[in-house]
Amino acid sequence: MAVLTVQNLAKTFNLGTSRETRVLDDISFEVSGQTFVSIVGPSGCGKSTLLNIISGVEEHTSGEISLTSDDGGATRIGYVFQDPRLLPWRSVMRNMMYVQNDRSETTVARVKRYLEMVGLAKNADFYPGQLSGGMQQRVGIARAFAVEPDLLLMDEPFSHLDAITARGLRTQLQDIWAQSKKTVVFVTHDVVEAVELSDRIIVLQPGGRIYEDISIDLPRPRRQTDPTVATLQAEVLARLEAMKEASRTAGSAA
Ligand SMILES: Nc1ncnc2c1ncn2[C@@H]1O[C@H](COP(=O)(O)OP(=O)(O)O)[C@@H](O)[C@H]1O
Ligand SMILES: [Mg+2]
Repeated sequence: MAVLTVQNLAKTFNLGTSRETRVLDDISFEVSGQTFVSIVGPSGCGKSTLLNIISGVEEHTSGEISLTSDDGGATRIGYVFQDPRLLPWRSVMRNMMYVQNDRSETTVARVKRYLEMVGLAKNADFYPGQLSGGMQQRVGIARAFAVEPDLLLMDEPFSHLDAITARGLRTQLQDIWAQSKKTVVFVTHDVVEAVELSDRIIVLQPGGRIYEDISIDLPRPRRQTDPTVATLQAEVLARLEAMKEASRTAGSAA
């Protein structure tokens, strides 16, 4: 697991000829242990940029970010993208092994175990083209878990899937996460999804500031058919709609 500390983080993209856009502004939060945190906000509010900064792919403009492993070793990061990003010319198993550091028996057994957890043990020798979109995304999720990261970053991993497939995968993700000990930062624009999955939801508003930091105190496993889940989903959704309305009004007043 990981300890992630973000303090007064800001990000400005320089678009050349003195045009600058501030995408993230004064972001502070801390996440550690077996916690599932979602970053929720409308499209363009800087969610992916924030994940990219956490993973080190993107640099921040100001503020502090620190990421350590809680066992004191090097911090390993896993990343699940919107698209599964599998190599089409490699089998499922070889896609899974591609990101592993070694080919030892222990590693192969671990990779197979995660493949089994997503229900694809029988498809190890298949090529990505022979799998549905949902199955490919399950490989992407298993691959990220199988590197046993301290911190798992997920950027809208279900947004390209149909509703039924996405629901199945959310259930599966909860089960895998419950079995493994991972700190997860999950990005989504979907409040309903965030409430089902998260211990905590950080809501970003347009302009890239934190609007709210909400604790989700619901027992697990959570199912979408559970009325207490549905009630909280409606509540958080209403708060997000209020935020959007407020920023629209502020925008038109300016
Ligand atoms: N490399 C870049 N250069 C300039 N602007 C960028 C770059 N990447 C993202 N942006 C801008 O930053 C804003 C936030 O983008 P992003 O983090 O992708 O938002 P989200 O993931 O919440 O939809 C958008 O306005 C986007 O156009
Ligand atoms: Mg994004």
